[in-house]
Amino acid sequence: MKLRKKKAYSVAIMGATGAVGEEMLGILEQRQFPVSKLVLLASARSVGKKYAYGGREIEVRELKEDSFEGIDIVLASAGGSISKRYAPLAVQAGAIVIDNTSAFRMDPEVPLVVPEINPKDIKKNNGIIANPNCSTIIMLVPLWPLHRANKIKRVIVSTYQAASGAGAKAMQELEDQSRAVLAGQKAAPQVFPHQIAFNLFSHNSAIKDEGYNEEELKMIKETYKIFHTDKIKVTATTVRVPVYRAHSEAIYVEFAKEPDLAEVRRILESAPGVRIVDDREKNYFPMPIEASGKDDVLVGRIRRDPTSPKGLWLFVAGDQLRKGAALNAVQIAEILCGRTVPVRV
Ligand code: A2P
Repeated sequence: MKLRKKKAYSVAIMGATGAVGEEMLGILEQRQFPVSKLVLLASARSVGKKYAYGGREIEVRELKEDSFEGIDIVLASAGGSISKRYAPLAVQAGAIVIDNTSAFRMDPEVPLVVPEINPKDIKKNNGIIANPNCSTIIMLVPLWPLHRANKIKRVIVSTYQAASGAGAKAMQELEDQSRAVLAGQKAAPQVFPHQIAFNLFSHNSAIKDEGYNEEELKMIKETYKIFHTDKIKVTATTVRVPVYRAHSEAIYVEFAKEPDLAEVRRILESAPGVRIVDDREKNYFPMPIEASGKDDVLVGRIRRDPTSPKGLWLFVAGDQLRKGAALNAVQIAEILCGRTVPVRV
């Protein structure tokens, strides 16, 4: 499906009160997306809550089956089951849905898009375009330009994932538990299965095939779909850490040919969506606190593996709520509208 060319578009955010939804609102405004009408949708609990947008106040409405009349673009981030139910209704009503949940990502009819990597896939949509998993996006933005220059054969990744990946309530839980522990009280986990303050644990998604959790399987399968190949061997260990927002990842890459460090740096320096933070003298490398609120994925610790000539290590940090979710979705919307937006923070 194509978006009919217009001066401005009516946009609905499904899950507008969530951590990603709120970020979507901010990014639309910051990038001056041409919005003719903005509809903020959430559960009945949030009806009446107000958000400022473009100098106006917009009230949140309850998400209902008839919420999509006259809407051109739906940015969806209210959870997989909500997307499964409402995305087809939005498409029936004539909208294109950019879905941030995992509901349709592996559907062969649905493109899974990172604008820096496979923007052309957007054309093949039937009304729904999926936004990849946040850890996958943050890993693949720097890996894609390297892969184009020297084929990647194997990736071994370990993640350090922020509370933001589990939504606004999880971020609040990290804050509340930290206060409680510092006050000498016990942490009472409610959103996460374990204490998140002053602790870390294996990612809280369900354990599936061969002992891999869902997050790890997403990173593996989504890489194949986005890169259009299953020739790369990907394996992952995903971990939740007591960081507010922005995920970090230690990525080990094996290439077809021995990588040249100077060339790797040159490629990353000019790669869209990437910023090198790699100062060995100062021991200064990517940190989630510095990636937070930024568009670029920070890349550093760029070093060869002395035990394997074709191996390379990277350490990356990227804002899970921005490039890992809301920004990627808005960039897809911009491509649908034929816009190119250089604004970056
Ligand atoms: P609400 O705030 O009204 O619960 P997060 O991922 O940060 O937890 O955010 C989830 C988003 O999805 C919120 O905007 C939340 O709205 C929305 N949401 C959750 N359940 C529903 C539902 N049944 N109908 C509509 N929106 C929902």
